[in-house]
Amino acid sequence: MNHVLKNIHHEYDLKHILHPFAEFPRFLNEGSRVFDKAEGAYVHDVDGNKYLDGIGGLWCVNIGYGRQEMADAIAEQVLTLPYYNTFTDMSSVPASALAAKLAQLAPAGLNHVFFTTGGSTSVDTAVRLAHYYFQANGQPSRKLIIARENAYHGSTYLAASITGITRNYTGFHTLATDQAPLVHHVSCPNVYRPFDGMSEPEYCDALIAELERKISELGAENIACFFAEPIMGAGGVIMAPDGYHRRALEVCRRHDILYVSDEVVTAFGRLGHMFASERLFDIIPDIIVTAKGITSGYIPLGATLFSDRISRAIIDDGVFAHGFTYSGHPVACAAGLKNIEIIEREVLCGHVRKTGPYFEQSLANLKDLDIVGDVRGRCYMLAVEFVCDKATKQNFDTSAEIGRRVALEAYRRGLIARNVGDFIILSPPLILTKEQIDFVADTLRASVLKVMDELKNAGG
Ligand SMILES: Cc1ncc(COP(=O)(O)O)c(C=O)c1O
Repeated sequence: MNHVLKNIHHEYDLKHILHPFAEFPRFLNEGSRVFDKAEGAYVHDVDGNKYLDGIGGLWCVNIGYGRQEMADAIAEQVLTLPYYNTFTDMSSVPASALAAKLAQLAPAGLNHVFFTTGGSTSVDTAVRLAHYYFQANGQPSRKLIIARENAYHGSTYLAASITGITRNYTGFHTLATDQAPLVHHVSCPNVYRPFDGMSEPEYCDALIAELERKISELGAENIACFFAEPIMGAGGVIMAPDGYHRRALEVCRRHDILYVSDEVVTAFGRLGHMFASERLFDIIPDIIVTAKGITSGYIPLGATLFSDRISRAIIDDGVFAHGFTYSGHPVACAAGLKNIEIIEREVLCGHVRKTGPYFEQSLANLKDLDIVGDVRGRCYMLAVEFVCDKATKQNFDTSAEIGRRVALEAYRRGLIARNVGDFIILSPPLILTKEQIDFVADTLRASVLKVMDELKNAGG
């Protein structure tokens, strides 16, 4: 791309795209980073710089960039049947084949798929399935949703309300802040910051007791479902105490509340398995929400997987009046099938299980730095949290923008790492070599040291 065109793209972007989550005063000054090509784990910007993509696009490019096979599968499907709907009695070969493949990969009993356009619409679909299910089985009062503070579930009206990151509510009405809220939040289960210095098992007991209290306060007969990510993503790669998910599922079962596992980030290999709920957390939820890694981001697609029990109730009842023009889009489903074929053939889950512990340890080594309070997560879903006092775990003043400054330093050194407040999040393609993992860890260390130097020079 020539220089004139580069400038034009920066200008077009600034003038015409409303960027999700941009901090506008700064953004308007600095503009955007415009990328124009990518291969493997690397992306290139229009100014000719190359970066290791530590965030896999946005937790999604699991198989890496530039796969010829993906291009061929997509092109072939465009030529064969670029579109057909899945409403009423319509379907297509890729949609039915991908649904069967997902049912084969999913935990036992989750044999049914509703195709969507991404994570948020998969989350919305999970709620509509839950509502319809209870309506059909004679419990129409079950409408309420319980989710967790700090969880991110998306940006449609409903998914944004299930999201428990309250700073995202600024300027909006949500169904969590309504006069009669549809969505209720319980505490974020964060082993790094347990209540009042509790041990991990005590903290788990307290969180489960809180869930029980919330259920009795709302009345189980009014609650449809509970939403939980296996590991919270955008909230800061937050790990729940050991046994939390299993116990939360038991509570849900006891009260006949459907358990929705949001695996938009964790499915399709990021934690070393096609689905994390059962393999890592020992739960078989009623509904699993997916998107992102289902096509490795090559084409938008989401899928909500649900149990035989839910399917039976819905099918016995009549018509599920919910759907999107692009539900089961043939090109997206063809991309999904090829993506899964690549993950399986290249044993990417095995690669993640093999290299994941090395990645975890490489980042954990950063804990020797004064401002690194916590390094957490699993495999290819990791975060580093900065604190100004390790003993008290006190965060820096937000105006110091430590996370952002570290991310910028990393960027200058050729690594894309994402900061959310004072966390640095890493979710790279699932194909990293040991050398690339070393580059990520070394670059982060140099970036943190640079920011620490600046703090020292500023007398901080
Ligand atoms: C756990 C989780 N759920 C849902 C979503 C929403 O997905 P989408 O942005 O595809 O609508 C995201 C997006 O990051 C997510 O991380």
